[in-house]
Amino acid sequence: MAYFLALPAILFAAAGNLPAQVRHPISGRVIAPVMGASGADWLVRPEREAEENPELAIKLLNFQPGMAVADIGAGVGYYSLKIASLVGHTGKVYASDIQPEMLRMLRKRVEKAKVRNVVPVLATETSTGLEPGVADLALLVDVYHEFSRPQAMLKSLHQSLKPDGRLVLIEFRKEDPTVPIREEHKMSVATVKQELEPEGFVLEKVLPDLPWQHILIFRKAGYTSP
Ligand SMILES: C[S@@+](CC[C@H](N)C(=O)[O-])C[C@H]1O[C@@H](n2cnc3c(N)ncnc32)[C@H](O)[C@@H]1O
Repeated sequence: MAYFLALPAILFAAAGNLPAQVRHPISGRVIAPVMGASGADWLVRPEREAEENPELAIKLLNFQPGMAVADIGAGVGYYSLKIASLVGHTGKVYASDIQPEMLRMLRKRVEKAKVRNVVPVLATETSTGLEPGVADLALLVDVYHEFSRPQAMLKSLHQSLKPDGRLVLIEFRKEDPTVPIREEHKMSVATVKQELEPEGFVLEKVLPDLPWQHILIFRKAGYTSP
């Protein structure tokens, strides 16, 4: 019984043909469906630079040579490739995704760019696929709201991070009705906090600088800055 209670509540639409809605068991948030490989073009659309300003996001996160970064839900590696040059040959980007097709496209882009420090990793619904304690920073850009098993994934992320590691979520701002993204693909700061804090993370900072998204930086509970 406890096993069933731990799973997200599933609500079936009355019409029967509509897809079932999966909700987070604590917040009640409707979990968004995973973006399929046909969404890959949207991830590399030319307007993305202006709409999301990823260069600013990367600057604010202060990547340093030698860092091990886990790009979780990396898609086709839009962020992985940008970060790879900053962490350099002494660092690494683990590009983890649940879809083999996304990883196939990512590998092609990595090869074309002749980048050697991006390591593709096949994740599952409940695991990052990474070794324990490997990452200085885990980055989830437009991904967390798609996790079908968010609590299990957060447990796995907790294990994948070093004791002083940062967990960073970049999510479209639910608080802002002018952000032109479907509701289930947006997240508010309050909901993210409500879902992450019971899983052993503490919100350290919210950066509001991006046009449409907020950057939420978490640490493991119990971490004290030196
Ligand atoms: C909207 S895309 C964002 C891709 C990339 N972060 C970017 O900003 O370009 C979301 C990605 O998360 C992946 N994803 C969803 N659930 C996942 C999980 N549990 N573990 C790893 N990847 C996941 C999907 O396969 C998809 O590639």
